[in-house]
Order: sequence, then C-alpha cells, then structure tokens
Amino acid sequence: MKATNLRDFAVICLAAGKSQLPVIAKAKSLGFTIVAIDQNKEAPGFEYADYKIYLSTYDADQIIKELNKLKQKLNWVGVINRSSGPPVISAAKICKHFGLPGVPVESAESLVNKDQMRIACSKRNIPIPNYKIYDVDECNTASVDLLPVVVKPALSLIGKSGVSVIRREDKIGPSIQYASENTINNKILLEEFLQGPDLSLVSFVNDGQLFPICLLEEINIEKKDGTLSAKGYKTCDSDRYNWTQQAHHIANNLISEFNIVRSAFMISFRSDSNNNLRLIEVHLDIGGDLMIEAFYPKAFNFDFLKLAVEMAVGISESQIDLKVKPTAIYYNEGEGLLSNRGYKVFTANTMEMLEEKISKASLQN
Ligand SMILES: Nc1ncnc2c1ncn2[C@@H]1O[C@H](COP(=O)(O)OP(=O)(O)OP(=O)(O)O)[C@@H](O)[C@H]1O
Ligand SMILES: [Mg+2]
Repeated sequence: MKATNLRDFAVICLAAGKSQLPVIAKAKSLGFTIVAIDQNKEAPGFEYADYKIYLSTYDADQIIKELNKLKQKLNWVGVINRSSGPPVISAAKICKHFGLPGVPVESAESLVNKDQMRIACSKRNIPIPNYKIYDVDECNTASVDLLPVVVKPALSLIGKSGVSVIRREDKIGPSIQYASENTINNKILLEEFLQGPDLSLVSFVNDGQLFPICLLEEINIEKKDGTLSAKGYKTCDSDRYNWTQQAHHIANNLISEFNIVRSAFMISFRSDSNNNLRLIEVHLDIGGDLMIEAFYPKAFNFDFLKLAVEMAVGISESQIDLKVKPTAIYYNEGEGLLSNRGYKVFTANTMEMLEEKISKASLQN
C-alpha cells in the first residue's frame, strides 16, 4: 500500500490491554484509524481506538461479524496482534475473511499447536528434535528410552509453564503431570533434549519475503526439579557456526512450506551436538516479555514498534539501520507473566563489555 492519507486506512488491533496499548498508540500516532477488540471494556488501549469491539480475541467468528458491520465505512489494511496462541488463529481467520495478506488459517493452526507443528515440520524436512506426542489421558503410557528428555505442553498460555527437562527416572511422572496440567489442547510432547543455547530470530514476513532483524539468545534457567523459567534475553554473537545463516534458511523454508505472506515471525531454535539449528517453536505475533518496552529501544537504532505496525499493514519502504547494540534484559525473580515483573537492562559497546557488566551486576545481587 502507499503510505499516504493513512486516516483512510483501518488497522484491526487484537486486544487492547496493557501490553497492546503501546502498539495501538503507535498505530494511532502514525495516522491509522484504529479498531480495537477486547472483552474488557476498561482495557487501556481503547483510549486510542476509533471503534471499539467488546469481544474475546479468541472468538474470531463473532469478531468477523462485528467487523463486517464496519466494512462499508473502513478500508482494512492489516491486523496487529501481540499475543501468542489462539489470537494468532483469530488473526489468520480475520485476514482470510477480509482478503488481507496474512497466514493461511491451517498454517496458523499447525504452527500454534506444537504437536501439529512437529508433525507438519517432519513431513516437510524442517529440522526439529525427535519427538513423541501423547494425549493427556494416555500419558501414563509414555515411554522414555533415553534421558535427558524434555516434556512440554503442546499449547500453553504462559511461556515456560509446564516445561521440564527430565534427567532422572523418578522425575518422569511428576514432569509429565506438570506438562499435562498446563496444556490447553489436551496433548503433551516428549522431545529429544538439544544441548545448545536457545536462539530466537526476530523477523517479519512481508509479501512472502523474510525481513530478518537479528538473532537473540533467550536465557532460561533449569531449576533443581527440572522445570524451566525465563531469565532474560541477550544479543547474540551470531557468527558462531553460521547460526544466522542457518536460522534464515529454516525461516525461509517455513515461509514457503506454510505459505506465509505477511506476519510477525519470531522463531526459536536450539542447536544440536553438531551445532546445527533445529526448530523449537514459531511465534506469529510481535511478542511480549517486555522486549518492545525495554529491550528493543536500547538495542536498535530504529523504532521497532513503528516497523511492526508498518509490516502489519504491508508498508515496506522503511530504510532502517540493522546494526544491533550489545544488550541484555534480566527479569526479576517471580512467578507468572514476565510483563508483570521488574527487570534490568544492560547495554555496552561490545559483547565482552556487556558480559562484564552482567557478571558485575550479578555479583552485587
Ligand atoms: N527439545 C528441547 N531440547 C532442549 N531444551 C528444550 C527443548 N524444547 C524446549 N526446551 C527448553 O524449554 C524452553 C521452553 O520451551 P518452548 O519454547 O517450546 O515453550 P514455551 O517457551 O513455554 O512456549 P511459548 O514461548 O510458546 O510460551 C525452551 O526455550 C528451551 O530452553
Ligand atoms: Mg519458547
């Protein structure tokens, strides 16, 4: 689309809560008409909305009915969503209904449900860890031949909830139980343990083309009982083992195999013992975890949120400086959503200086 007279164009914002507020405010400040959807009438993002729809972001059919009532008045240009899981599927359905470029509904369903994602990727030769899928009511039949192994919900609502590394026989039962309690699609996965670091490619897809931003390292800690918790993110020394090139290669395969035309695209990998990346998960949303609020503004020389809005509406004219400043975010200890925790952000001119700052800070804790 041409970036003129943006007031004529309407952006559909899925959710209007605290974490969607900056996204809505950015889209509004760029001049778009905002249609915001949230079941909570008090959601703070409604402040910037030109049209408000009070529905759950899970309820695509009802949302489409309400949007249909506005379609004579408005010219839809894109959908913006920051939440993982079911709202990704709602976004795909809305795009399909209104003929907006997006992710095919079947692809969104496959990529959001990790059991379906594993099956789809193994059929398409996209590298993934070896896996087994169990229904929660038959998971007592799960057989574990080789430890360590990772057990996780096939779909969960909170990052890391239900995920454990099993290193001892006596942890098999409790870890499977923990995954079962946290899955919302009735399935759990047992996966080969990959030993490498957690890498995340921050990128977008526009017009079917990969628009890579950078590779990050996700810092997770394995607690004594094997459960995982999120500790932070840092920029990554990406030249090691051609990881950037490998990540782009897998991302491009995903785009073509799943026919992704336009989407946020945050992909997680782990490397195996040969330093080859394998796909852990795909996020088709612009992501939470305070990255937009706290990390990207320090790491990037460009406005990530502006780019995210432009990508969502298909503007690809922005010339941006992709140089990334060594940056890390560490979340405070605690339970529940990361966005509700405190955090510390570090930046430095080199990765070595960054590591030094981080280790000094942890010595002081
Ligand atoms: N096969 C694996 N081998 C080693 N570690 C793994 C494996 N699968 C998952 N993990 C670890 O568990 C963490 C969480 O797993 P995963 O990313 O699948 O779930 P999640 O982060 O809870 O999901 P979401 O990001 O959708 O909320 C990973 O970041 C990684 O540290
Ligand atoms: Mg993850």
